[in-house]
Amino acid sequence: MAPLKTGIARALRSKIPTQHSLVRSEIQRGITATSKTANWPNASNSTTRSPSSAPFPLSEFQHHTSLEVTTPLQPRTTPTPTNASTFTTLLNSLTHSLTTTPSPHLPTLSALLRAYSSNATHWSQFAHANPEKQYTRNLVCEVPGIFNLLLLVWTPGKASPIHDHADAHCLMKVLKGSLLERRFAIPSPSEEGKRKLTKTSHLEFGMNKVTYMADSLGLHEIGNPSQTEYAVSLHLYTPPNAAVRGCHVFEEGSGERRHVVQGRYDSVGGVVPVRME
Ligand SMILES: [Fe+2]
Repeated sequence: MAPLKTGIARALRSKIPTQHSLVRSEIQRGITATSKTANWPNASNSTTRSPSSAPFPLSEFQHHTSLEVTTPLQPRTTPTPTNASTFTTLLNSLTHSLTTTPSPHLPTLSALLRAYSSNATHWSQFAHANPEKQYTRNLVCEVPGIFNLLLLVWTPGKASPIHDHADAHCLMKVLKGSLLERRFAIPSPSEEGKRKLTKTSHLEFGMNKVTYMADSLGLHEIGNPSQTEYAVSLHLYTPPNAAVRGCHVFEEGSGERRHVVQGRYDSVGGVVPVRME
């Protein structure tokens, strides 16, 4: 486990973004999306895109296969203090716990996640969706060497590869919709590439459910069972090993293992990096 870094909690305050509210229909869906092309209503041709005057209808979203990464709509209403503070309070509490103990105290972290009741007004600004991907990786906040907190937006009907967790702890909370998890035993070196993975469980997690995963529990695949609705989940990784050195994905049919490095985040702190082409 990574050693505690002194002074990091103070520095972290600047890393936790403040909250914004979104228009009501976006709040209900909790997801924002834009196109960088003229397909996007009201989009400009510049790389700095203008906010839409209306939420992106899901039906249009699905039809625009040329969509790339997304950008958030600008807030047009003032959040109430309660709504604005709840998710930020969770982020601060997780950060405080992780930066003031020599190793992650999993019961505390799990309790903090369970105590938070998901409300899309709290996290919509982070919920970028790219329909061309299985899931969109949005970094909410991080302390290098200690943890990273990702908000994943799951495209309808899509799933992750079967993967390990790079010798890290993973706590997941469902923020919207539900997610299916299939777990598998890690194949022995002699089994890799020679036999089908052994499934050990198949569970569905509903909204606000908190789960834990680590290599000691095997491998898993996460997927969105809905064919029409996006699902959203919050993932706390400590230490953030996969972001640094990658992880392994596995073929279910053969048990073959492959190392993969993770690409850059699709958004950071609610902001989508401008792509230079
Ligand atoms: Fe995972």
